[in-house]
Amino acid sequence: MKTYRGEFDFSTFPTLTTERLLLHELLPADAADVFIFRSDPEVQKFNAEPMQHLSEAHAFIEEIRSKQAAQEELMWAVTFHEKNTVVGLVGFDYWNRYHHRAEVGYDLAHAYWGQGLASEAVKTIIDFGFQRMHLNRIEAGTIADNLRSVRLLERLGFRREGTRRGYSLEDDGTYHDSAMYGLLRCEYRKALHRRG
Ligand SMILES: CC(C)(COP(=O)(O)OP(=O)(O)OC[C@H]1O[C@@H](n2cnc3c(N)ncnc32)[C@H](O)[C@@H]1OP(=O)(O)O)[C@@H](O)C(=O)NCCC(=O)NCCS
Repeated sequence: MKTYRGEFDFSTFPTLTTERLLLHELLPADAADVFIFRSDPEVQKFNAEPMQHLSEAHAFIEEIRSKQAAQEELMWAVTFHEKNTVVGLVGFDYWNRYHHRAEVGYDLAHAYWGQGLASEAVKTIIDFGFQRMHLNRIEAGTIADNLRSVRLLERLGFRREGTRRGYSLEDDGTYHDSAMYGLLRCEYRKALHRRG
């Protein structure tokens, strides 16, 4: 596989810093924190079933870490500066090195919604994705009614590319559409230019 100058190579985990947050490697010891938001029905409303047992959080972290070791995905634990509690996750999965694309994912404990924290974290990993993972395209799929998620993507410049109709059976017992979003490196560069 071709590598690029400055490309991230997994030799050390890339800890990232934002104005308010520290994004670091997700560790087995983080299971209890992850369980708190992944077992919350409000956070999981448009995602997988809420976790019922702490063991599911351990298995979830184990799976992420093994996919990371296989260089298939990259996930960051979100904490505040100088506090160890993990309050969310942001990362890339479905990383396709040949086509230079990956899918972004994000979730945050409910208590921290509405403060711009998820956008701050996702923007930072998008920078990392374009600059250090040499991505050409970052995509995202979100339930169309997940309006916070839709606003986050559109705020960061993602374009809606289509709708997968009747994609998922949600808590209200009906099928909901999934909205597909994409952001290309060239669009992102232009937006950065405009921002100065
Ligand atoms: C999706 C999710 C991460 C969005 O969280 P969020 O806190 O709404 O997202 P942001 O970080 O973008 O915050 C934006 C909000 O903070 C407000 N805000 C407050 N202070 C702010 C600040 N200093 N800077 C920026 N925004 C600020 C913004 O006005 C905005 O509010 P609005 O959406 O009502 O207009 C969250 O709802 C979540 O974890 N959901 C469950 C998991 C999930 O669905 N993930 C997506 C699966 S595809």
